[in-house]
Amino acid sequence: MKSNKVLLPVYNINFFHLTFLPSTYLCNMSEDLNIITGTKKDQYESLLPQIRGLLEGEPDLIANLANITAALKEQFGWLWVGFYLVKPAVSAASSNEKELVLAPFQGPVACTRIKKGKGVCGTSWERSQTLIVADVEKFPGHIACSSLSRSEIVVPVIYNNEVVGVLDIDSDQLDNFNETDQFYLEQIVKLISF
Ligand code: SME
Repeated sequence: MKSNKVLLPVYNINFFHLTFLPSTYLCNMSEDLNIITGTKKDQYESLLPQIRGLLEGEPDLIANLANITAALKEQFGWLWVGFYLVKPAVSAASSNEKELVLAPFQGPVACTRIKKGKGVCGTSWERSQTLIVADVEKFPGHIACSSLSRSEIVVPVIYNNEVVGVLDIDSDQLDNFNETDQFYLEQIVKLISF
């Protein structure tokens, strides 16, 4: 039977020639992200099902976190969108000590490790609560990964009643996050499976 799959050229680095693979071997996505204008609510309502679609059937955590950050960054254009995951501390006094470690993100390079209770991320982890910071300079202990960041929202990612990471978003504008962001971002992190 004739196949109608598109064949993609792929460089075979061992032999310096092109081989052809079925497109489905490389990617199951059929369309680009649909970016819309409108209210924040409109934008989230458009994005949420698209993120659900991106994650559907894909069990790999890093791949899913990477696509969530890309989708949010593309739709909203924020300065920095990324995840930190709770992992064993590198200089752990005890084997149980944990810290936040940088995970997939979009935006400028960022701090790699954050202790529990430190900065906005570590405080969100400690309190197991979403934090909205209208002016980062007024948040005691804020960790400035980028001097351009003016406001921030951090949403804990909870699995089995434990914080396993945080979604951190920075804006270069003051007071750029509100309850609408909190509502939808909390929905988005619930889509992640561990
Ligand atoms: N500002 C964060 C640190 C992470 S960066 O913003 C990417 C904080 O205070 O925890």
